[in-house]
Amino acid sequence: MRLKDKVAIVTGAARGIGYQIAKRYAEEGAKVVLADLAENGPEAAESLKTLGHDVEFFHTDVAANESVVALVAFTLEKYGRVDILANNAAINIPGSIMELSEEIWDKTYAVNVKSQFLLSRAVVPIMEQHGGGSIVNMGSANSYIAEPRLAAYVSSKGAILMLTKAMALDFAKLNIRVNCICPGWVDTTFNDAHCDLFGGRDEILKMIDDIHPIGRTIQPVEIANVAVFLASDESSAITGTGILVDGGLTAK
Ligand SMILES: NC(=O)c1ccc[n+]([C@@H]2O[C@H](COP(=O)([O-])OP(=O)(O)OC[C@H]3O[C@@H](n4cnc5c(N)ncnc54)[C@H](O)[C@@H]3O)[C@@H](O)[C@H]2O)c1
Repeated sequence: MRLKDKVAIVTGAARGIGYQIAKRYAEEGAKVVLADLAENGPEAAESLKTLGHDVEFFHTDVAANESVVALVAFTLEKYGRVDILANNAAINIPGSIMELSEEIWDKTYAVNVKSQFLLSRAVVPIMEQHGGGSIVNMGSANSYIAEPRLAAYVSSKGAILMLTKAMALDFAKLNIRVNCICPGWVDTTFNDAHCDLFGGRDEILKMIDDIHPIGRTIQPVEIANVAVFLASDESSAITGTGILVDGGLTAK
C-alpha cells in the first residue's frame, strides 16, 4: 500500500502500459481516474472495479484543453485532490520527415507533448494546495536515441525529457517532483504500424530480442512498477530525471 489514500490521474489508461500503471497504482492503494478516448475505456475501468479497486473512467482527449480541464474537474469532484499525474498517452505514426504530413506532425506533438503541458498546468495548483505531488511523464528510449523513419515520434519523446527537466526545476520548491520513464520495446499494439513498416511483427520481435541485451521485450507491468516507485515517497529525492527501462538497449 505504497500509495494509500493518494489520488492519481493516468492518461492513455484504456490499454497497454497506461492500463498497467492504473492497475498497479490501484493495487498500491490509490484512487485512480483512467483517462482515455478509446471506446473500451469504461470496460478497462470496470475490470479494475471488479477487482475491488476505487477507480473511475473519464473520456478525455489529452490534446484538447477543454477536455483536460473537464478531467481535472471530474477528479476533484469525485476524489477532492490530485497527488499523482501519469502523463502516459501518446501516438506513434512512423515516417521520415519526407513521409510525414504537416497534420501528422502537429497531431503527434499535440498528443505526445502539448498534452503533458496542459495536464501538468491543470494539476500543479491543486498539488501545491495539498503540499506536493508527483508527475510521471512517459518518455521512451527514443528520448535518448533516434531510429530511422520515426522523426515525429522520436523528436516528441526527446522534447518530453527536456520538458520533464524544465518542470522539475520550476516546481521543486513546491514539493512537486517531475520525472520521466524511458522504456525500450514494450509489446503492445502501439508498435503495430512500426512493425508493418519494417517487415512484420514476427521479424521485428526477433530483431528486438537481439537488440535488447536482456534478450526479450519488456512487459507493461515492468514499466508500471517504476511508475509506482516514482509516484511513491520511496523516490522522494528524485526529480528532473529520465529513468531508462530498456533492458540494456542504450547501454551498447
Ligand atoms: N510500447 C512501446 O514499445 C513503448 C516504448 C517506449 C515508450 N512507450 C510509451 O508508452 C506510452 C504508452 O504506450 P503503449 O504501448 O501502452 O500504447 P497503446 O497504444 O497501447 O496505448 C496508448 C493509449 O493512449 C490512448 N490515447 C491516444 N491518443 C489519446 C488522446 N488524444 N487522448 C487520450 N488518450 C489517447 C490510446 O487510446 C491508448 O489507450 C506512450 O507514451 C508511448 O510513447 C511505449
